[in-house]
Amino acid sequence: MNIILLGPPGAGKGTQARRLVEKHGMMQLSTGDMLRAARASGTAMGRKVAEVMDRGELVTDEIVIGLIEEQLDAGASGGFIFDGFPRTLAQADALGELLERKAQPLSAAIEIQVDDDALVRRITGRFTCADCGAVYHDETRPTEKDGVCDSCGSTNLQRRADDNEDSLRQRLLEYYKKTSTLLGYYYALGLLRRVDGMASTDEVAAAIEGAIRGELVRS
Ligand code: AP5
Repeated sequence: MNIILLGPPGAGKGTQARRLVEKHGMMQLSTGDMLRAARASGTAMGRKVAEVMDRGELVTDEIVIGLIEEQLDAGASGGFIFDGFPRTLAQADALGELLERKAQPLSAAIEIQVDDDALVRRITGRFTCADCGAVYHDETRPTEKDGVCDSCGSTNLQRRADDNEDSLRQRLLEYYKKTSTLLGYYYALGLLRRVDGMASTDEVAAAIEGAIRGELVRS
């Protein structure tokens, strides 16, 4: 199974990708995480990427396609979950070609649908564990012990530099201008599945499992 999780910032792509990793042993390929690692490295490329991300704009296709290509070469026995990639038609075409070259077909593109008002609340309340990547929220998913990650016990909990209202407005604009066209693209390929992302995290996970089971039955 190779699946794409599509949806605006804060839809829950990362949250659901981590569940799929745990349940199915799939490999999560998050271009956002890869770019954050590049910015943390402090290289010239990382500094350039950081400026673009903080403005809420998209990094160039060339950079992100290169990052994905490297990871695909490493392979994954349980299949890949593409989280935050592709985000443009050029990226979608490139992914199609890369997977075809590896004889690894795409199984489904799953859109997680969430209202804009809820996205703002989710993004402005989000914090993550910098050590293990666990995702939390001030109101809906606080840590059990204040300031300590439930998953790994780290106290290194952080908020993302682009999780503010100005960047979020730009990220949403980028999503509707450049990424939402991919919904039609994958619909035309017969690969689009939709889940209600306004439901609880468990319910969204169950809906995604249903979409995946449907694909397994078909294949
Ligand atoms: P990226 O890191 O991919 O960010 P994003 O797409 O904006 O998505 P987020 O990570 O913000 O949200 P999410 O959908 O994963 O939600 P989450 O699960 O955390 O990209 C960042 C930047 O990198 C981009 O702006 C761009 O500059 C660059 N970039 C990345 N990929 C690129 C590409 N391919 N091309 C070009 N540039 C690229 O959940 C959010 C919150 O909601 C959490 O607090 C969570 O606990 C909570 N939550 C989740 N599910 C639920 C639920 N069902 N109910 C209630 N709360 C929930």
